[in-house]
Amino acid sequence: LDNGVPRPNRRQDRSLPAAAVPRAGQAQHSFDNTPDTDPSLPANRTWGRAILDRVPGSTLGNASVKAAFINDEAALNTAIETAVDKGKAWGALSGAERAEILHRAGDALEARRADLLEVMASETGKTIDQGDPEVSEAVDFAHYYAESARKLDAVDGATFVPAKLTVVTPPWNFPVAIPAGSTLAALAAGSAVVIKPAKQAARSGAVMVEALWEAGVPKDVLTMVQLGERELGTQLISHPAVDRVILTGGYETAELFRSFRKDLPLLAETSGKNAIIVTPSADLDLAAKDVAYSAFGHAGQKCSAASLVILVGSVAKSKRFHNQLIDAVTSLKVGYPQDPTSQMGPIIEPANGKLLNALTTLGEGENWAVEPKKLDGTGRLWSPGVRYGVKRGSYFHLTEFFGPVLGVMTAGTLEEAIAIQNQIEYGLTAGLHSLNSEELGIWLDSIQAGNLYVNRGITGAIVQRQPFGGWKKSAVGAGTKAGGPNYLAGLGDWTPAEASG
Ligand code: ALA
Repeated sequence: LDNGVPRPNRRQDRSLPAAAVPRAGQAQHSFDNTPDTDPSLPANRTWGRAILDRVPGSTLGNASVKAAFINDEAALNTAIETAVDKGKAWGALSGAERAEILHRAGDALEARRADLLEVMASETGKTIDQGDPEVSEAVDFAHYYAESARKLDAVDGATFVPAKLTVVTPPWNFPVAIPAGSTLAALAAGSAVVIKPAKQAARSGAVMVEALWEAGVPKDVLTMVQLGERELGTQLISHPAVDRVILTGGYETAELFRSFRKDLPLLAETSGKNAIIVTPSADLDLAAKDVAYSAFGHAGQKCSAASLVILVGSVAKSKRFHNQLIDAVTSLKVGYPQDPTSQMGPIIEPANGKLLNALTTLGEGENWAVEPKKLDGTGRLWSPGVRYGVKRGSYFHLTEFFGPVLGVMTAGTLEEAIAIQNQIEYGLTAGLHSLNSEELGIWLDSIQAGNLYVNRGITGAIVQRQPFGGWKKSAVGAGTKAGGPNYLAGLGDWTPAEASG
């Protein structure tokens, strides 16, 4: 839904200088979203192909990852204590002073767009078309939180006292945008940061961190670590100097973190199991396209992805909708990112556990409309799957799988469809395809999810325009929505001006 923020210009010719991002005072709103690369321009395709050529032998980020390895408790404690100590000067800067550096960080991330695409493709298999908006999101976070930092200075009668040390534990699925967003928010608030990139995406996190260092964020204020032992992770989370932890990951991970330390000040965006509801009033062609993209973009490995589509009333019997959906899914070209024609890349590691089960096993009454196929010996490359006949209350209905498999459910009424979605313990994103305003009202009043999308896909939230965060078991702790107006408030405390002296 529109929150009144101008729609971003999303296209950029990479043979030209990057579009200038307005700074404070240059525009009525505080910043413009950064445009993505326009793949329809031949120059951009040449640019993209040169990136893909570098993917197989890519070593970007290696040196920083190696330097970040910590193998013992003493070294970890030193890193934490140094960050707290050096962070004092960072926290003492005005928001406006930090904003200058963070705007430069946005420019540095933009300048390293090609590197970031290369390292994500090489390390996680992310295709360029999926990685490019992710880099834009990281750049947006930098400029957005820079302006948010400036606003902290302008509150009368209260002083913002930043957290001293924030630990950032991002996931591998958005290995640039999520670590960047979490880190930049904490830095904008005035906190020192220790970041531990996901081990499957350590190099991508490292290249992001290098860009922030290049922009002038001191290395001691933003410390990257890789931990040789699992116990060191427990120790990092439990360390009393850590006064915020930003986690994006599974709900179980948030619970685990809390088991390490009961009073942990956690800002966590956790699991999702998201559905798009399609009613008979919908533009069914658009709905089929949006469902397919939301389910299979980045091989379904987004917390925001559509795992279910719930067809209301006559849509369940619509040949047109089914044909469109199945055509959209079966025509997806699956392959490694080095091949520029790949539309869906590999999954992060060989399918195992719950995901392997979802790709290979049907529940009672279910059948494959499109059966997923293992396409090579790695166990990572799978064609997308669509299962029909998913029953209410079944394992597939209620479980998060995080991969390229979509379940189709049916409901007699919109109210029933909403109840099916609300039965899920998570509530991250939700979609409605309907051209009926009464239906829209009913859905808005009762659907339980953090981000609601109408007549579009349910992935790809845009910073400032669509602040991102969940409800129910999709959010744990004190956080609010990332890329929205209240996020920094969770990264410090307001004190009355006189009390802060
Ligand atoms: N912020 C990511 C999205 O909206 C997860 O798809």
